[in-house]
Amino acid sequence: MRRLISIADLTNEEIEEIFSLADEAEQLRAARPASGQIMATLFYEPSTRTRLSFESAMQRLGGSVISCSDMKSSSTAKGETVADTAKVVSSYADVLVVRHNWDGAVQAMAEHADVPIINAGDGGHEHPTQTLCDLYTLRKEKGELKGLTVVVCGDLKNGRTIHSLVFALARFGAHVVTLAASGMELPQYVIERLEREYGYGLAPVASNDLSAVVKETDALYLTPKQPHQLALFTQVDEIIQARLNTMASGLRYDAFYMTRKQKERIKEGTNDASYPTIGAAFLREQRFQDTVVMHPLPRVDELSQEVDKDRRGIYFKQAAYGVPVRMALLKFLFDRQETLPRSRGAAISYESPEAIGPQCRNPNCITSKEPLSAPKRFELFAIGESGSVVLGCKYCDHRFKVQYVGNVAAKRYGSYDYTLASNLKEWLKKGELAIFDSIKEAEELGYEPFKSGPQRVLMGEAEIKQALAEMSGRILSDCRDADRLLILGVRSVGSQLAQRLAMEITNQRQRRPELGEIDIYGNEELRRLNPADPDIGPLNLKDREVILVDDVIYTGRTVQSALSIIFRSGRPQSVRLAVLIDRGHREVPMRPNYVAKNIPSSETDRVRVKLCGLDQEERDQVVMYSLIPVAGSQPSAAAGNEKTAVK
Ligand code: NCD
Repeated sequence: MRRLISIADLTNEEIEEIFSLADEAEQLRAARPASGQIMATLFYEPSTRTRLSFESAMQRLGGSVISCSDMKSSSTAKGETVADTAKVVSSYADVLVVRHNWDGAVQAMAEHADVPIINAGDGGHEHPTQTLCDLYTLRKEKGELKGLTVVVCGDLKNGRTIHSLVFALARFGAHVVTLAASGMELPQYVIERLEREYGYGLAPVASNDLSAVVKETDALYLTPKQPHQLALFTQVDEIIQARLNTMASGLRYDAFYMTRKQKERIKEGTNDASYPTIGAAFLREQRFQDTVVMHPLPRVDELSQEVDKDRRGIYFKQAAYGVPVRMALLKFLFDRQETLPRSRGAAISYESPEAIGPQCRNPNCITSKEPLSAPKRFELFAIGESGSVVLGCKYCDHRFKVQYVGNVAAKRYGSYDYTLASNLKEWLKKGELAIFDSIKEAEELGYEPFKSGPQRVLMGEAEIKQALAEMSGRILSDCRDADRLLILGVRSVGSQLAQRLAMEITNQRQRRPELGEIDIYGNEELRRLNPADPDIGPLNLKDREVILVDDVIYTGRTVQSALSIIFRSGRPQSVRLAVLIDRGHREVPMRPNYVAKNIPSSETDRVRVKLCGLDQEERDQVVMYSLIPVAGSQPSAAAGNEKTAVK
């Protein structure tokens, strides 16, 4: 049974087929192909356009509609789960159209419904039918989607229409410029998917190029051609920066897709920064003379009524296409009975065999809001390809890094690293792979740490101290303006090292540099570390000289992810990379600027930076050891202390 939860549920050819059907909406209306069929609309959130255009579409196809005028007056108010509602209503109707305020709720309902289900917007996640209307409008206006440059603007973090749209634009070969309101950047999971599944690269765009819309916010250019490696930015980069600016300025902007601030998804008072607007100034700019302005509506004050009268303002047309496009979609779904698996690259499904297992970190995900309706199911990425393994929630798509893995049969656990990749595959095949968010979870189930081989000390306390002092001296002598330095550690050992480096710099300069932390798979954000004034506001990267600090560089993928977070958060003057250990074996071209020690190591070696104070370490040390395979191993008192991430 076909359903539409994500825009990934439709292939490009199928989208084209829906558009051809939409072109013939009048003929469809005459043929009444849905005669005798019933559509149920279940809207747990307000809607005008989506709901009414769906209802109109169904009636124009000759079908009829049942609906709950307000889900708050349905059994939901009595505590019914979405799973039960879906099961019940699917015996009353032939298709369900659902809007919900939780991310992933429609996926959960689809698992319990016996009829096709259509996502009319789930929390801040996706809104695929809006995307169909958007693409249809764009194609009508511009002829072809391939090669277009579309600026998506506003609340890119919470705007579900944006998430579905950028994936679709990438699939059709368009370029995307993201122009986010401050603090509302495209989520990391969306960027990662664009990079991994569609081969998109990103680069900053000169903000003065877009100043008619927003000042002081840097845009990012997402393009399928990957003309620039993020790795380049780790070099002192004036020339590269200049080259990028000229490349990105003078872009032809085909469409501006504006969105409102999704205030219902933002905690009050947490983001009062200025919001971009489109109005008369935009319309006057020469470079936007052929740029159409789109908006999923409703608008608040980000899109001035001045644009309504302009030929480029096409948002009312876009809303009107809602009916023919949704007629076409319904007809398409009624004609398809087969199920097509969503194409998601090489992802593997994962459900923990243990009672305690990993949790999706998105607080608005159905798995945390109503676990009864949505068991914890994930997709597992990147085994064998990179240094880390990532879980993606099957419901909301948020991603996070696997920290601890265990073997169910041997009842052993440890922190995950690359050397365990082949074991992991094996355990997965046998259904023996347990994943834990913390040591506590593993220990609660009686797991013991993996046994590790003898340790070899590679660097001692004094050597580490000396290396950090030297590194900070070189950082200071290389930097142009020490007041602009920002020491940014990769969580968690990298952050500790960043603090040590900052201390050294303070000693040498008698002034404390600013310190920040970057969390790659957590909340996907940059934050200050130990700010003197807690109300100082978010970190500003503009024109800063960033020193990115990590403990060990190996495949280079961690640094690549960190760079992508940095460049979508602002435009620093330069980013340089400082690491304690370089293990070699790079998968991504990346050369650190400051290295304390090069340690060529084999894939089965583990290198761990232990820092005093972190996880009860007594002194600073860098150690190397190998792991004793888990099969047949007995719990042992000599088990290694596996408490921090191993790289
Ligand atoms: C959008 C939505 O609900 O996500 N509206 C729509 O469906 N046309 C956009 C919004 O509410 O801002």
